[in-house]
Amino acid sequence: MATLKLTNVKKIYDKNVVAVHDFNLDVADKEFIVFVGPSGCGKSTTLRMIAGLEEISDGTIEIDGEVVNDLQPKDRNIAMVFQNYALYPHLTVYENMAFSLRLKKPKMSEDEIYQRVTNAAQILGITEYLTRKPKQLSGGQRQRVAIGRAMVRDSKVFLMDEPLSNLDAKLRNQMRAEIILLREKIDSTFIYVTHDQTEAMTLGDRIVIMKDGYIQQVDTPQGVFDMPANLFVAGFIGAPQMNFFDAQLVKDGDKYFVETEGHRFEVTGEKGKALKEKGIESRKITLGVRPEHMSLAAGKSENALECALEVNEMMGSELHLHVTTENGKRIIVRVPTISMDEKFRHSLHHGTPIYVTFEGKAMHFFDPETTNNILL
Ligand SMILES: Nc1ncnc2c1ncn2[C@@H]1O[C@H](COP(=O)(O)OP(=O)(O)OP(=O)(O)O)[C@@H](O)[C@H]1O
Ligand SMILES: [Mg+2]
Repeated sequence: MATLKLTNVKKIYDKNVVAVHDFNLDVADKEFIVFVGPSGCGKSTTLRMIAGLEEISDGTIEIDGEVVNDLQPKDRNIAMVFQNYALYPHLTVYENMAFSLRLKKPKMSEDEIYQRVTNAAQILGITEYLTRKPKQLSGGQRQRVAIGRAMVRDSKVFLMDEPLSNLDAKLRNQMRAEIILLREKIDSTFIYVTHDQTEAMTLGDRIVIMKDGYIQQVDTPQGVFDMPANLFVAGFIGAPQMNFFDAQLVKDGDKYFVETEGHRFEVTGEKGKALKEKGIESRKITLGVRPEHMSLAAGKSENALECALEVNEMMGSELHLHVTTENGKRIIVRVPTISMDEKFRHSLHHGTPIYVTFEGKAMHFFDPETTNNILL
């Protein structure tokens, strides 16, 4: 059982670098939280403050309701896995994993150490490497040893700082799946740092999106995808990035329309309903539409933007079409290839006319001044 609570936590490094401003977060027992955001946004700093490796400048950190601000890292019952593994090169895998247990007071029996190390090794699939030295292992195997070393300690809170960032793409995918399995096997609360949005989306029960030391949004993966709190989150989550347009939202009786690039689109579905419920009047907005929520129309029509193809990126199961509108605005459209007409596909060259349309239920509306989602 381990809940975690951060209240108004702040970090100012010397020379007045404010790395983290007023961080507030409640983590439930056994929850898997992911901190995500661009380089320098304060992810590692926050994690290190939770671990006790970095002093906090203001606020409180509680574990299971107990304020731990002044507790030493070793007294916080927290395990941490770092990006660079930090294994001892001269020790075997077994001894690397046993290391922290041997430092415990009162002394832990060899039997108990053996049980814990072999049990963790089995869960992680590294039993056959226990007698090897780290340099005799692949990157992914070393990564597992680093995780195993944290696992044996039976910690209530598991902190991981970009643990997969120096693995190749294939190993990353594999280890990502293993972390999901690991999580089911051990009873810990997890805080996981990454700047990879796929990791954030697939691993997190909830995601904390950070920028410049400020939390931008805390929500489930589906929540941040469907209802991004502001332009930054909208652009950060989802690849390729969401397309943005200067637009006018028009309330016409019971209906809403969006006017942009000389065209008019009706807002439908939940989005239309939400605008009505909020009683939103006609106004200027920044319109957001994800590339995968755009589609190609057969030809010129009232509900299609007339564009010209710039770049066609073939991704296998889909094409990423970079096109420019009549006004010279660059947008990206993601189209599945599976049911695409072969003749059409071969006609795609620089300059080919492309007619782009999108559904009214897939639109996002932001305030151009504050950048906030007007529906939140
Ligand atoms: N020891 C330090 N002294 C002064 N400033 C620091 C120190 N450590 C970090 N910073 C600054 O604090 C800010 C947050 O750094 P932090 O390492 O937490 O970012 P991060 O989100 O983990 O980034 P990355 O994705 O690159 O690991 C940065 O501006 C960084 O330069
Ligand atoms: Mg970091």
